[in-house]
Amino acid sequence: MNPSKQSDLGIVGLGVMGENLALNFDRNGFAVSGYDLDEHKRESFARRTGAVAPRSLAELVAGLGAPRVLLLMVPAGAAVDALLAELRPLLAAGDIVIDGGNTRYTDTHRRILELTGTGILYVGAGVSGGEEGALRGPAIMPGGDAQAWPRIRPILQAIAARAEDGQPCCEWMGPGAAGHYVKMVHNGIEYADMQTICEAYFLMRELPGMQPREMSEVFATWNRGELSSYLVGITADILARTDPETGRPLVDLIVDTAEQKGTGKWASQAALDLGVTAPTIADAVFARTVSATRSERAAAAEVLSGPDARFSGERDAFVEKIRRALLAAKVCAYAQGFQLLAAADREHGWDLPFGSVAGVWRAGCIIRARLLEDIRRAYVREPQLVNLLLDPHFAAVMADCHVALRDVVATAAQHGVAVPAFMSALAYYDSYRSRRLPANLLQAQRDYFGAHTYQRLDRPGKFHTKWTDA
Ligand code: 6PG
Repeated sequence: MNPSKQSDLGIVGLGVMGENLALNFDRNGFAVSGYDLDEHKRESFARRTGAVAPRSLAELVAGLGAPRVLLLMVPAGAAVDALLAELRPLLAAGDIVIDGGNTRYTDTHRRILELTGTGILYVGAGVSGGEEGALRGPAIMPGGDAQAWPRIRPILQAIAARAEDGQPCCEWMGPGAAGHYVKMVHNGIEYADMQTICEAYFLMRELPGMQPREMSEVFATWNRGELSSYLVGITADILARTDPETGRPLVDLIVDTAEQKGTGKWASQAALDLGVTAPTIADAVFARTVSATRSERAAAAEVLSGPDARFSGERDAFVEKIRRALLAAKVCAYAQGFQLLAAADREHGWDLPFGSVAGVWRAGCIIRARLLEDIRRAYVREPQLVNLLLDPHFAAVMADCHVALRDVVATAAQHGVAVPAFMSALAYYDSYRSRRLPANLLQAQRDYFGAHTYQRLDRPGKFHTKWTDA
């Protein structure tokens, strides 16, 4: 890295993501400087990247060519606010600050408002792909001050992953907090994706009693077909790994208690706030919370009875049903994610480019998958698609897979195997395609105890019935 030249951009926050991004920028010909409060991180950064690592923020800013570009890679929350407070007096109108952390979109929205009148251009950019993605090519979802985009587009698109058609997995998402909102929805889908994969594994383990190595081969085979994705691929790798100390499958030694930093929860909360039906995303969050009650579950297992049915199905046929069920559940989860994006778009007026969102997710990010090209094409064909399920390609996929999803859910239920994401995906699909749901009775109940009124099929207006003589 050329330490003498003025830097093209400065990275603040030199954890692994910050360091790897710096190496990526350098590999693509950009002069990067980096700052961190932690002197050891600064030293490690300079040693690993050969970049300039000034000892203060002021020095970092002074070394940037105008208009300055700063990329913040610090933990979401108060750290970003504190850093912005320190940066503001050092910056001038036209300078650009990009928050590349997993920031909640509401915080980004607030920070953009707080910078109004300063002339500082603020960008909230979702960055997906973890440490490896940062180094080799993440998916980047920038949004905020549109004036910043012409300046940062070449820099961000240079380091982004490339889809198979050569397109960079970085496009402008829209104004305000659009970028971080899209990243939040990415993570909601990620949670659902991970949960459905875990349920496929759970079914193969609990019912035909398959071993991790056998299941690894199944996932590796699936990864060569319609289910091809980063998460399916790493699952095949994980299930093939043995613990060097015990020689046992490592996955069998890992405690079944999931953790979460909260991004999937935010997506579920956002869906509830906007009245969007996203049960599979929410059930993926609840699957993590119930897994975290491990000791309670052990106690409950001693008390609560369940079926003692033994699986007697044909293994390969069941595995194929699980594959189809997984594809169907995945499509339902993506449909829910894009429904949430559509509702947010209407709420905030962002004019989100749904085709570009799917396009950006085709490579580099954690949910990268073959079916994202089909999703991109669906939204290019019909930008105002009401629901992904209604796209002809995906309607056909569901027609082909819904029976398998039903069989798998029924088998799981009969054997007492918990598959909440599969079950919610099926209920979502059946609810969405039902002309009649039981909400007529629900409206009557609400009117009975709360006089909340109801509408009738045969005439306009709102009605209340005196249901009792009291
Ligand atoms: C990504 C991931 C990443 C995620 C962490 C922790 O896109 O690179 O989504 O941003 O936040 O992997 O996720 P959880 O702790 O919420 O599972």
